[in-house]
Amino acid sequence: MTLTVDEAGLAIADPKTYADDRRLHEALALLRRESPVHHVDAPGYNPFWAVTKHDDIMHVERNHELFLNAPRPLLATARFDELNRSRAEDGIALRTLIHMDDPDHRVFRAVGADWFRPRAMRGLEPRVRDLARRYVDRMAEAGGECDFAQEIAAHFPLYVILSLLGLPESDFDRMLKLTQELFGGDDDEYQRGASEEEKLEVLLEFFAYFQELTKERRKNPTGDLASAIANARVFGEPLNDFDTASYYVIVATAGHDTTSATITGGLHALIEHPGQLDRLRGHPELMPLAVDEMIRWVTPVKEFMRTAVHDTELRGVRIPAGDSLLLSYPSANRDEDVFDDPFRFDAGRDPNKHLAFGFGVHYCLGAALARIELRAFFEELLPRLDSIELAGEPVGIATTFVGGLKRLPVRYSLS
Ligand code: HEM
Repeated sequence: MTLTVDEAGLAIADPKTYADDRRLHEALALLRRESPVHHVDAPGYNPFWAVTKHDDIMHVERNHELFLNAPRPLLATARFDELNRSRAEDGIALRTLIHMDDPDHRVFRAVGADWFRPRAMRGLEPRVRDLARRYVDRMAEAGGECDFAQEIAAHFPLYVILSLLGLPESDFDRMLKLTQELFGGDDDEYQRGASEEEKLEVLLEFFAYFQELTKERRKNPTGDLASAIANARVFGEPLNDFDTASYYVIVATAGHDTTSATITGGLHALIEHPGQLDRLRGHPELMPLAVDEMIRWVTPVKEFMRTAVHDTELRGVRIPAGDSLLLSYPSANRDEDVFDDPFRFDAGRDPNKHLAFGFGVHYCLGAALARIELRAFFEELLPRLDSIELAGEPVGIATTFVGGLKRLPVRYSLS
């Protein structure tokens, strides 16, 4: 069925669109072609401008003093925006790096930045590789058939990030469930309840857990990331309870769902493109490029938003002060003006200027870690993999934020 431009705009605000790649990309391609800065007024949401061209998204992110993350960093229902605002007034709203602008953003980002620098991450590589091997072993033990998304990819990045934070293994399953409830909030299968209050309940549960952890690490600091956060000082003061908990929340949540979705979608791409799988097996030195192509292909973070501080123009469209813009990363990453044959999965794509990690001052803090995890996993898997095929239909997550495949049934032979 052919969409109109207005239907394509509405599709961007509909979580179900993101569970169906074909439908999503039909809508985004139409917007890029016909209305690249498109006003969307979808029922249940405050209006926004959908920005779908690679160049325009870079322009918005580069001008971080004109386009702020606060007060609306991502797409949520009008009701949720309202609840967040009133909680912010009461001083109990989530306030992570993505909710902040300078000067706060710069100093809060510095608290974690040293931990995530590529050089520091390389030191972690042996541990990440050990964990990757454990999960490939687990795949082998599953006896030739599994739901790769649920049984393998959902766990490996979670283990990495929670080990880095220093949480006990006994809490990992609980964190997985809470993260799925938080990020899969629109998907029937993951959500705790349909109401916005129930979604906030999930957040508050996160907070309670991490407040306890902070208390503990202040009393008994260890060398882990949780201790660094608990004992950090910004503007000469220790972080307050909400800021500390917010920091944990963003690291613990941003750090695994995104990477899980990319590992799952990356494997799916290799199954669908057996020529590229063979190429990668014959040329393992292509792995760093293949990893970035998987990240472009999947683009697990579907959007972030910015709000204009004063009147401006984007691609000739007038944007009044106070209006919000949705940056569509999956659209940027299929932009025909930037990528040769963007709908082709090319394990050796070079250059690959994808925007899956965003751009500018909010550029993903965990990009180096995500790349290490993906590389370690596929470098452990491919040499042991004799064959692999789908064993059922893959199923996508309905969400406007972080998503990908929630089921990937596969049949394989693994030594
Ligand atoms: C921010 C994507 C993995 C932590 C972001 C942003 C994107 C993104 C699009 C916003 C950038 C912007 O506004 O310009 C991804 C993707 C990942 C991934 C695609 C995996 C393939 C990770 C990991 C961590 C992480 C493993 C580890 C902790 C963060 C943090 C921010 C962030 C803390 C906020 C940065 C800020 O606002 O200054 N990520 N991410 N991410 N990401 Fe990631």
